[in-house]
Amino acid sequence: MGAGREVSISLEGLSDKNLMQLKKLNVSIFPVRYNEKLYADALASGEFTKLAYYSDICVGAIACRLEKKEGGAVHAYIMTLGVLAPYRGLGIGTKLLNHVLDLCYKQSISEIYLHVQTNNEDAINFYKKFGFDITETIHNYYKRITPPDCHVLTKFITQP
Ligand code: ACO
Repeated sequence: MGAGREVSISLEGLSDKNLMQLKKLNVSIFPVRYNEKLYADALASGEFTKLAYYSDICVGAIACRLEKKEGGAVHAYIMTLGVLAPYRGLGIGTKLLNHVLDLCYKQSISEIYLHVQTNNEDAINFYKKFGFDITETIHNYYKRITPPDCHVLTKFITQP
């Protein structure tokens, strides 16, 4: 895997032109079907949503929503983070997540969180490496997949 990390991956912002790439990726990676609201939120998040290209092939993406909380604080919510199966283990997920974590630091965002199916141990371990912890477990969160339960993974970001 070490040598694999030398591959050249570029990140591209989301626009109306490449929106279909994100939709196709999500259909192939996730068991959940996402609605148009997710894609509208992703477009509105600006730099917080990125597609990852291996050469000229779109192989992964992170899509976030920015949430304004009472008192004015903004939290980042990771709606989807996925890499096509043949391209996993090459550091692409790390590059996408680090991009968003850097933005959180730069924009003084103190909290970033996501929902993950309770049986998705690979993803849970992946996020834990970046300092996310399970902060809540919600039963029957998903309607059409088994198990229907999710963990909320949260990373609290302390500004330097
Ligand atoms: N099994 C074991 N370890 C893994 C796996 C895996 N499937 N995937 C990543 N890791 C570990 C790697 O070993 C690596 O550790 P290291 O740095 O110590 O070597 C570390 O996690 C980072 O690996 P990357 O190569 O950067 O991760 P990758 O590009 O494979 O992306 C991701 C990780 C996004 C979780 C990918 O496996 C994936 O797309 N999974 C399916 C979709 C998914 O479950 N997404 C998360 C759901 S939750 C949500 O979307 C909000």
